[in-house]
Amino acid sequence: MTGAQPAIRLTGLTKSFGSVTAVDEVDLDIAPGEFFSMLGPSGSGKTTVLRLIAGFEQPTSGTISLLGRDVTDRAPFDRDVNTVFQDYALFPHMSVLDNVAYGLRVRGVAKRARQEQARAALDTVRLGGFADRKPSQLSGGQRQRVALARATVVQPKVLLLDEPLGALDLKLREQMQVELKELQRNLGITFIFVTHDQQEALTLSDRIAVFNDGRIVQLGTPAEIYERPASSFVAAFVGTSNIFDDSTSQALLGRGGVHSVRPEKVSVATENLPLVADRTAAGVLAEVIYVGSSTQLIVDLDAGTRVVALEQNDAHRVASKGRGARVTVGWNDSDIVTLTAPALT
Ligand SMILES: Nc1ncnc2c1ncn2[C@@H]1O[C@H](COP(=O)(O)OP(=O)(O)OP(=O)(O)O)[C@@H](O)[C@H]1O
Ligand SMILES: [Mg+2]
Repeated sequence: MTGAQPAIRLTGLTKSFGSVTAVDEVDLDIAPGEFFSMLGPSGSGKTTVLRLIAGFEQPTSGTISLLGRDVTDRAPFDRDVNTVFQDYALFPHMSVLDNVAYGLRVRGVAKRARQEQARAALDTVRLGGFADRKPSQLSGGQRQRVALARATVVQPKVLLLDEPLGALDLKLREQMQVELKELQRNLGITFIFVTHDQQEALTLSDRIAVFNDGRIVQLGTPAEIYERPASSFVAAFVGTSNIFDDSTSQALLGRGGVHSVRPEKVSVATENLPLVADRTAAGVLAEVIYVGSSTQLIVDLDAGTRVVALEQNDAHRVASKGRGARVTVGWNDSDIVTLTAPALT
């Protein structure tokens, strides 16, 4: 019966700290088993939403339901959620195994049973051989995995993760992203994942809520958020966008309003390389930035605006021209996103 209920339902959720409204009338349903991310700039209310769901904060108004049960007034231990914080918060004096078994001990699980379950949880994060070590004898990524095992061993319905990969270097971070996704899929737990790294949110999530000033400004799949941003804020915050204001839109698109186009949708050509595109504009190559698999081309258009384009590095065609070269940029109408419709005249 509970299968039809959302894992989490927030209704009119609001949290004020004095004059600061950290969370402002948030309505949200998260499905069981969903990998859900909250993405937004610093101070946009992401951690506060997590703390409200976990029960570490009381809302100023609004309600929180877990699988159809209103838990707004329940204590943290009386909610079927568990939290992984950015700093892991492992007990330094306990072994890895005892750290993982801790939540089971608190719940009164007998010693042998909890050690077995803790070992199984360590296996799921590929740390089976590390049970007897102390946290100080582990790498950052290994500690992170211990924190995950500790949070999942009690089999919560919902796992809240607040920037759990924030302290890791890029390589480890990418590796952990894959492991997190696998863990979530295998355990079937609902993940609510907070990050301000848009790439991470796009890679991992089933759906993303983009936060700004305590509100959800867009809710959708990664593809929807990336390809159809609903506002200039989302277009600029998630990935790199070229945003055309009203007068630039008039000049380049022949209509007013505010529009955006992603750099990978902008092609660039020189005089002797024809461009197949619905619309073109001429300009000067201002910067050529090598970024590994691709090159970023920054073009100052004669129309007075600057656009960023991405060229894959199998071609090396325009980048080889170097700064100052005359170029033509182009894009297709279907790749233009309307952020604000033209004003009615
Ligand atoms: N205990 C508190 N007392 C007063 N203000 C608070 C408190 N906790 C959070 N705030 C304020 O609420 C707003 C939202 O904070 P929150 O920590 O939820 O942001 P965040 O989106 O998690 O940011 P970050 O990405 O920096 O972690 C901020 O303006 C913050 O200063
Ligand atoms: Mg935060």
